[in-house]
Amino acid sequence: MLVKCVIIFILTAGKFLFVKNSQVNIARNRQAFQSTTRVYSPDDTSYAYRANDDNINIHHLPQTVIFQCSATSAYETGSWISIDLGKIYLITKVMVLSRDTNRYKDLKNFTIYAEDFPKSTKRNFCYYKENIVKRALSTALSYYETYDCAVNAIGSFLTVDHLAGTKYLSLCDLQVFGDFIKERDYDIIDYTNNKFYAGTPFNPNLQLSHLMDNNLTTFFRSRNEENINKLPFFRLDLEYYYEIYGLIVVGATSANSKEFSFMYISISDYPQTMKSTLNKYCVENFNPAQTSYKDGKSYIFKCSQPIRGQYILIHMIDENDVKSKHFFEFSELFVYGRKIGNPNSNRNTKDIVAMHESSIDRKSFLLDGIYISRGSSFELNQVNNNYVRATLSPPIDIKVFCITANHAGTVNNGIRITIKDISNVQKAYLLSGNYRYEQTVCEIIPETQASQIEITSLGSHAILEVEIFERGIISTKFKIMTQIIHVYSSKNISY
Ligand SMILES: *[C@@H]1O[C@H](CO)[C@@H](O)[C@H](O)[C@H]1NC(C)=O
Ligand SMILES: *[C@@H]1O[C@H](CO)[C@@H](O)[C@H](O)[C@H]1NC(C)=O
Repeated sequence: MLVKCVIIFILTAGKFLFVKNSQVNIARNRQAFQSTTRVYSPDDTSYAYRANDDNINIHHLPQTVIFQCSATSAYETGSWISIDLGKIYLITKVMVLSRDTNRYKDLKNFTIYAEDFPKSTKRNFCYYKENIVKRALSTALSYYETYDCAVNAIGSFLTVDHLAGTKYLSLCDLQVFGDFIKERDYDIIDYTNNKFYAGTPFNPNLQLSHLMDNNLTTFFRSRNEENINKLPFFRLDLEYYYEIYGLIVVGATSANSKEFSFMYISISDYPQTMKSTLNKYCVENFNPAQTSYKDGKSYIFKCSQPIRGQYILIHMIDENDVKSKHFFEFSELFVYGRKIGNPNSNRNTKDIVAMHESSIDRKSFLLDGIYISRGSSFELNQVNNNYVRATLSPPIDIKVFCITANHAGTVNNGIRITIKDISNVQKAYLLSGNYRYEQTVCEIIPETQASQIEITSLGSHAILEVEIFERGIISTKFKIMTQIIHVYSSKNISY
């Protein structure tokens, strides 16, 4: 029997840790990322996952066979590929299978690391390969090169950094072996059944699953044309409350696409879509030099510290160049986080605060969680002197008030929220009206026992959604959610 079983005893804090040296390839079919992607045609695209999937084929005959290996752009320097192993391992061995094409010579001069996130500052060296990896003539084991890692190659990502200049980083198979050390705090969040909101216009057929399908032909796009949607955004409304560690965004491949630039990514307790102190930023004004090799390019964002929240906002702000035609687009979005709790656990959307408007009855669409202007809305404008008003009984201590609104022009007078407290003292808050068509804007309200809320427009706005976050609600299950619960059931509404 050739079963190799190495038992390692590590003395840690007076405890023996029992680890078994596994013969299982821990990289197979795990999520893979690479710096850029060689795109020959929509089908013949050398995705990162082709390096570690079940389909191993070393040939490339474009007329008959789709190349089944990974490959970065040949025009890029500093290319890399990274496999998410999902758990923390002591990596002991890496095996590489090159290709059976003349470009096999491109695969040389690379360093292998174990790390906590792709291209991390916390990386542990595994192996340096200087010379050309042998040409694969078949997929037999003898054509693989095997590298034994340096000691302490501990990590949950295995990354190969190519140092060989403008050459393909192309792998037909990549196998990784190691000893399980422990579970990782964070993982890829499956948000495909959650909701998203983006300012119009955006590609109407987008489904969230398209952003996790490893398919460059399905992507999110919001166009930032002159005078249209100058502040494009994409907001992911997570169903649960999370601690977010980082994000990996993969760009699109369209001819007009540019680098993922002028980007801000925040995590928030509130649905605010414009730049705000309510948003906790993981990325601020990310603005890489424009390069020609941008197809399927991966942008790695590890937050400097984990950030908690329920809404992930990606927005583009190029205030110095509002006339330029940027495309805001990306094909994949991988969010790494840890679930903290369920903010909906004591929220009953049927019973949340009801609103009505002067001439029309109850406006349930204001509370339906549908933000898009293609859904229901109604026009509030100063000329008609109409308003939305809710009477709150018992009173509510509103912490944050959010309105999603749309307007036709680039500049518009604002929206006024008037809050009446239990002593009939009124206080007005003015939200800027310059939403560049459509945004969710939130206002922090000082401690007040509000008995009535009224919304009026000083210009003309279509109101799509209203959300009220109550101060100091202690959720029985998750204390952490204190400030983010929608107003819910126990309140009685009178008109
Ligand atoms: C490997 O790449 C580095 C960085 O580009 C370069 O300095 C070095 O000369 C290369 N070594 C070989 C053997 O190609
Ligand atoms: C990628 O998506 C396109 C469009 O939905 C689809 O036609 C194609 O089959 C997908 N490719 C793969 C490999 O799933």
